[in-house]
Amino acid sequence: MLDFLGSLERTHLCGDLRAANAGQQVVLMGWVNRRRDHGSLIFLDVRDRSGIAQVVLDKDLIPEGHAKGEQIRPEYVVAAVGKVRLRAADAINPKMPTGEVEIETTELLVLNDARLAPFSPSEEAIQNEETRLKYRYVDLRRPEMQRNFRLRHDITLAIRDNLSQQGFLEIETPILTKSTPEGARDFLVPSRVHPGEFYALPQSPQIFKQILMCSGFDKYFQIARCFRDEDLRADRQLEFTQVDIEMSFPHQETVFAVAEKFMAAGFAAAGVTLPTPFPRITYDDSLRQYGSDKPDMRLPGLTDVRSAFTDEDLGKLLIDPALPVVALRIPKVGELSRKEREDNHLQFDLKKGAKFIDDFKRLAKGFPEAAAKVRELAAAAEGDFVIVVAGDPAHPVKASDTKFPGQLSEREINVYSAAGNFRTELAKKYADRHGAFAATEKTVQDAAERGAGEMVDGAAAFQPIWIVDFPMFEYDLATATWVPAHHPFTAPHEADMANLLTDPASVRANCYDLAMNGLELGSGSIRIHRKDVQQQIFQSLGISDEEARARFGFFLDALEYGTPPHGGIALGLDRIVMLLAGAVSLREVIAFPKSAKAIDLMAEAPTTVSEQQLKELHIRVALKS
Ligand code: AMO
Repeated sequence: MLDFLGSLERTHLCGDLRAANAGQQVVLMGWVNRRRDHGSLIFLDVRDRSGIAQVVLDKDLIPEGHAKGEQIRPEYVVAAVGKVRLRAADAINPKMPTGEVEIETTELLVLNDARLAPFSPSEEAIQNEETRLKYRYVDLRRPEMQRNFRLRHDITLAIRDNLSQQGFLEIETPILTKSTPEGARDFLVPSRVHPGEFYALPQSPQIFKQILMCSGFDKYFQIARCFRDEDLRADRQLEFTQVDIEMSFPHQETVFAVAEKFMAAGFAAAGVTLPTPFPRITYDDSLRQYGSDKPDMRLPGLTDVRSAFTDEDLGKLLIDPALPVVALRIPKVGELSRKEREDNHLQFDLKKGAKFIDDFKRLAKGFPEAAAKVRELAAAAEGDFVIVVAGDPAHPVKASDTKFPGQLSEREINVYSAAGNFRTELAKKYADRHGAFAATEKTVQDAAERGAGEMVDGAAAFQPIWIVDFPMFEYDLATATWVPAHHPFTAPHEADMANLLTDPASVRANCYDLAMNGLELGSGSIRIHRKDVQQQIFQSLGISDEEARARFGFFLDALEYGTPPHGGIALGLDRIVMLLAGAVSLREVIAFPKSAKAIDLMAEAPTTVSEQQLKELHIRVALKS
């Protein structure tokens, strides 16, 4: 028999009770985390958002409440009225913040019962993520999830507050809109009123925020929902949230200063001090030094070890002398068994024309001088694991391997990125042997404890870096044209403008990424604000006037009505929270995420809809059988 709440008011949160509350009359409400039946005494661990308190049902004191207690099962919702008392010395639980006290209950209400879920929030996370997502309401009760969302709230609030203090106005932009050029597939929404026509959900507020600059708002921000129909990964969801900003009259440095301030504020809310200004690196250097355009700075970079080998060595080792020869070093790995080394081989991506040489014992036998020089160049200490990655001459050279002056060739990039990927794979694998990288696995509390600039084994736990000077264009072999490496409103460096049509390879984009711990956190650019430049870019990209008009006509119009120079950036809020929560997937920091197969397992979306709805939307579904 369930009880009604009546006029009962909650007085305290369970997790807040301490010895100082002893003697107070309290009303607690929450879920039964655990029940222990000791005959005439029943102990309920009652849980709410703040933590757990021990509620005692004494048969002598409240026979009726005790009888109810006998029926109670985990996750029942109860209210306990009673007095806080100190526990006997031998009953104190030092592991619980409320472990010094308990409630001497005088009245117990059972507000609701609960079916037995496939897992209990009082246990560690179960491994089967599909079950967690299906019963997300139970999963979200787990203290770890409650903590993640508290953290998300704190970070979001701090960022919003900071941007407001920096003079930014929060302005909402439409969800039902027109396609935005971020490079993913659109989610489309059919119009009932306009048969055969569709809205697109925004991949980002990009065009609208630029128009807000035309409209004189000067500094805009939005904690913006974005929608992209792309393959899901641990760091990608179909819908996600950006901290999106745009400002008028900025230089790249202006945007960096704003972003560094709100990032520092957001991280501070999680107890982490991010020293500013953040370091920066050019795209080319990032590839050369880290084999990635989102470098993980917690590990040593790649070392150019070409000079360790004679041409004869390279010939014998079947290394392409025209391509980079680099070493990667994973500190403090220690001796590896043959089995472990063989497993490593499997992890290396051989497809792209790069090869590696990891057997230093063998290298040392055949090429002792080169082996010694490699270790010296890579500054390897005893126990550090060093691998040489180089170009494979057996790999067929394709037309796309053409080297354009001023750009790294595709083959060079392939060698660097093979080394870069291998570097992070191995680092993850040996994380437990290597202090700095183990920081990935740390929880936010650890991070908070480490606090200001504190290092883990010589490396700060969170390492931001700006990547600048991306190439403006990439060569697309299939169409034999230069295609934009970024959205087509990205401005080129003013100094490179003259080369737009004559030497596209040399043109640098005035855009930038922010990376942290091997993750791309954000991306932005100074935009094109003049119609003549925009037309040149379209021309150099082979976008015709008609196509440009059809896709962004309204925006091109806006550019003609007095558009100031402007630029901005968007940071992935989910990714920021994921890093600070020490989580391995965005699904840990988004309340109702899609599964890896793009399904909302709880709400069971997507689903079919009724014939009537389809008819109203002028849609006929033709499934291939
Ligand atoms: P971009 O497309 O690089 O830039 O996105 C900016 C940041 O948003 C996050 N992000 C995602 N997070 C989760 N799931 C996804 N599917 C996803 N896609 C992107 C990343 C990324 O760095 N309009 C431009 C910004 C600008 O130029 O101002 C834009 O959207 O953290």
